[in-house]
Parts: sequence; structure tokens; C-alpha cells
Amino acid sequence: MHNFLYYFWSSSLFDLVRVTSRRLAWASKTESIATMATEEDECMGSVKAQLAKLFEVSLKVTVPNEPDVEPLIAACTGKFGDYQCNNAMGLWSKIKGKGTQFRGPPAVGEAIKNNLPTSEMIESCSVAGPGFVNVVLSKSWMAKSIQKMLSEGIDTWAPMPPVKKAVVDFSSPNIAKEMHVGHLRSTIIGDTLARMLEFSKVEVLRRNHVGDWGTQFGMLIEFLFEKFPNFEDATETAIGDLQAFYKSSKQRFDADPAFKERAQQAVVRLQGGEDKYRRAWAQICEISRTEFHKVYKRLGVHLEEKGESFYNPYIPGVIEALTNQGLVEESQGARVIFIEGSNIPLIVVKSDGGFNYASTDMAALWYRLNEEKAEWIIYVTDVGQQQHFDMVFKAAKRAGWLPHSDSSYLKASHVGFGLVLGEDGKRFRTRNTEVVRLVDLLDEAKSRSKAALIERGKGEEWTEDEIESTAEAVGYGAVKYADLKNNRLTNYTFNFDQMLNDKGNTAVYLLYAHARICSIIRRSGKDVEELKNKGTLVLGHKDERDLGLHLLQFPEVVEEACTNLLPNVLCDYLYNLSEIFSKFYSNPECKVVGSDMETSRLLLCEATAVVMRKCFNLLGITPIYKI
Ligand code: ARG
Repeated sequence: MHNFLYYFWSSSLFDLVRVTSRRLAWASKTESIATMATEEDECMGSVKAQLAKLFEVSLKVTVPNEPDVEPLIAACTGKFGDYQCNNAMGLWSKIKGKGTQFRGPPAVGEAIKNNLPTSEMIESCSVAGPGFVNVVLSKSWMAKSIQKMLSEGIDTWAPMPPVKKAVVDFSSPNIAKEMHVGHLRSTIIGDTLARMLEFSKVEVLRRNHVGDWGTQFGMLIEFLFEKFPNFEDATETAIGDLQAFYKSSKQRFDADPAFKERAQQAVVRLQGGEDKYRRAWAQICEISRTEFHKVYKRLGVHLEEKGESFYNPYIPGVIEALTNQGLVEESQGARVIFIEGSNIPLIVVKSDGGFNYASTDMAALWYRLNEEKAEWIIYVTDVGQQQHFDMVFKAAKRAGWLPHSDSSYLKASHVGFGLVLGEDGKRFRTRNTEVVRLVDLLDEAKSRSKAALIERGKGEEWTEDEIESTAEAVGYGAVKYADLKNNRLTNYTFNFDQMLNDKGNTAVYLLYAHARICSIIRRSGKDVEELKNKGTLVLGHKDERDLGLHLLQFPEVVEEACTNLLPNVLCDYLYNLSEIFSKFYSNPECKVVGSDMETSRLLLCEATAVVMRKCFNLLGITPIYKI
């Protein structure tokens, strides 16, 4: 008994904490509603959101003198129900001593349970411990909801965030410098976040904030003129490796004062808009862009470039406005904005009068808010830039561009991530070069997965095209998934053998699991489209019900991943889905093809495949259909 109680308390308290910390999730942001939830209401949003609506009704009746109590709903981790409402304890501490008729949290829980409107989604409710209200969902409602998704499409399970337009600033490499693994992480994570928002019907501006402005361009342009007097004919192949070009021009800059002088002049002439200098600059940018594009093409990532140079014309106006507001102060010759809680100020004009990274980011933020009218601006960079963004956001709050609290939309978020490490635990690099060429890295992932396919005899079975496209799906998918499955803030170790393993939590394992489900459906010889309309899904067996419940949790998981900007939440969900599916499929009591329950179970297989495919799609991974 003692142990049982301990288990119960610890798991429930854990849930309570988890739920409280997620209170800002969209699900709990229910609009004010009438006293009875209508049938229509119940069909909207995630299971969690639908239950929140029912409990909101109950809470209003239970404690009429406590308005605006947000329902705290969480999926159960124990076996007392599928979901639980955790409001009783918190409510009790609010109402005790105020002449309430209740005698402790269990009584509050009991009343919450009794005041719950009847709903076809709930089979039964019970109160446990200090007032937790456990809910068991109705199997027939669950089955109906899954079947509805199958016939109307997975888009009906998309979250509905209260935000119309977002900017995702991601990838953002620097011109004439190598795109490094940090940019790869930003590209992969940013693309997933953009995909999740797009699925949620948010208009997303996918911004590539490339570093295409700054003093280094004087040096590069001058070096280009020197090396190629007819610079306009100098193609990518002539210049070759832009990074080597950058290095040699830097050496020249450091060694020769006359060159340095000319380079500094070149910056002035470029920024003054002199034609020849603008053309040379444009050419250097174009060569870099071609390089970046090779990476984006492999990853299937789409971006719209608005580089630092784009915002340059806006900087003076923005700084003037901030100055007029009294925010910009003189400090050691520079012009700065002081930030509460920060020991260094944000420098917006350098002591030489020039603009910097921060000036550009202030102008870009202003532009995104005022010209593009974005309500959520998301920046994806390594954690090293966290302080920079923190200061930029705080300066914007001081200026009144953004509200002080981040609890509602009109907000900016920095999505930081950790380092990519090599086997030696140090920063990832290849044996002979200092930085890893991303194109080579991706090509190696592809060629290794191609070799594995050939080894498994697919060379004889499949066409060359099939081999190529599967190798790409698996290879690039493996690189992406290895990055996304970790909490983004932790460093992760890059290891081809691990990420291309067909066992464990890898893209390969998941892609194969999906292909296997597709082959079960093919083997049945049934037309699954026809079954969707004519057949009926039932969740009779426990393993079928467990799988059904997990499928139904897809909307709230995407919502959580999106609200908290954590792709790993979706990866965990996907991995668990394939584990729960395996448990169902490997149970002899749940035989699919040839059993009495074939139609229902095929529909369950199809629903699993549909949800898996949506997960892959949101993670930027191309599914495969056969193995
Ligand atoms: N180019 C920068 C870098 O390579 C990243 C830019 C991120 N975006 C921004 N708005 N500052 O570190």
C-alpha cells in the first residue's frame, strides 16, 4: 500500500509540474465558452484541447467565484486513465478559508468530476489521491476520430495557433566563408520549425539572413581586382574555393599596408554604391550562393534570401527613431543601448561611426515587425549568440516594439542549439581539413546508405533510380534525424555508423518501419481507399487501443513541439509510435491479414502510416515505401 501510494503521488505530481510548465500551450488557451460544450466544439483541436473545454465548463460550475481557472490537462503516465485533470489541489489552496463547502482537495476533484458535461468522448471518470480526475476515453469515440482523420486527411489534425504570420530566420551562412556544421544544424532545425508552422496554417517567411555586408568585402573586392583584372569573366571555377580566396586575401591584407589602404577605400566605395564595386560584390555573393545551394538542394530546403545588406538602408532611420526615444546613449565613443540585467550594452553604432551585426539585427527586427507584419520572429543559431539576441529583444521591448511579456504573440524567440562533436569529443572536423565541407558530408551519408542497399541485394531487384532516391531519402534523412532527435541545446556527436544503423532510434529504423507497414497493406491486396469509406475501425484489443490513443495524441504533440520550438518532442513521438505499432503487430492476437478483424486492423495500419508520413514530412525526411 505504501509503495503504491508513493508511486501514485510521484507520478501524478510529476504530471502536475509538467502541466503547469506547459500552461502557455495553445491547448489551454480556450476561448470563453458557454456553459455547455456543443458537439461541434468537441470535434475541434487535440484530445487535450477538447478535454480542456469540457473541464472548463465543469470548473465554472464547481467554483463560480473563481473565474478564469485554466484547466490543467495532461496525458496520464500511470494506468488510471488516459488523461487527467489536475486542478483540484491548486484550487483548494485558493478557496480554503473562504467559506467553501468543500472539505479538502479530493472533494473538489469529486465535484469537478460530477460537474463535467456529458460527452461521447468520455467513457468513465474517477477521482484519485488528492483530487486528480482521471478520464478514460471512449473506445468508439477514439475509433471514430481516427477514421474521420483517415477520410478527411491528416490536415484536420493540424494545430491552430493564434498567429498568422511568422519569420523563421535560419541557415544564414556568411558569404565567402565556408558553410559549417553550425549552419547545417540551423538549416535542419529551422526547416522543421518552418514546416510545423506551415502545417499549422501559419504564413512563414523563410529568411536566409546571409552575412553579405561588412568590412571584409573591401579586402575581397580589392583582391578580386588584383587577381582578375577582367573580374567579370572570373567564374566560380576560376576563383575556385572561395574560402581559400578569402584566406589569401586576408594574408595580403595583413601583410601589405598599401593593399590594406586600398581595401579600406573599397569598402567606402562599395557602401557609397559605386557601380564597379557593387558588381564585384554581387559576383562574390553569387559564387557563394551557388555553393550554399548545393547543400539546400540535397536537403530539400527552401529559403528566401534577405541578407544583411538588405537592411542596411533602414539602419539610420531605425537608430534615429531609437535615439529620439532617448534609448541610445554615448559610451566610450560608441552609441549604445543599455539593457537591464546585462553588464554590457548593445552597441548600435561603433566608435568609428560604422554599423555592426547588432545595428543590422535591430533594423531587421524593425522591418519584420513593421513592414512584414510578422507576429512571431524566430531566430535559429548556435547558443553562442544567445546573449546577442537577448539584448536585441530587450532593446526592442524598451522601444515598445514588442510587449514585455512573451506569453502572447507578437514575440521574438531565439532557438539556440549546441555544438556538433566528433568522435574525440571535440568540435567536429574531418581528418585533413579544418572545417567539414557540408556537401561532402551529405554525399558520404548518401553513398554509405547506397552501399548498404547494394549489400542487401537491392542492386538486382531495383532500378538505378530507385536505388538513388532511396539512398538519398535514407542518407539525408539519417543526418537530419540524428540532429533533430536530441534536445537542440545539447551537443551531439556526429557518427555515420550510429545514424545509419537500422536498429535503435534512427531514421533508418523508422523509415523501414514505415515501409513495412506499407508492405502489410500491399500484401492484403485490399484497396485501402475503399476501406476508409466502407470499413469500420474498432479498437477491441488493448494493443489496438494503445496504438489508437497514441495516434490521437499526434495533434497535441505537434502543438507542443511547435510552441516550445523543440523538434525532439516530435521525434520522440515518432519513435514511440513505431514501438507501439510493433507491439500491436507482433502480438499473435492482433493478426492483421487474413483475420476476422482484417479491415479494422488494415485501417489502423493505414492510420499509423499516415501519421508516420506526416511526422517525416514535418522533419523534412522523405518516406520510403519498400525495403
Ligand atoms: N550569419 C550569422 C552567422 O553565421 C547568423 C545570422 C543569424 N541571423 C541573424 N538575424 N542574426 O553566425
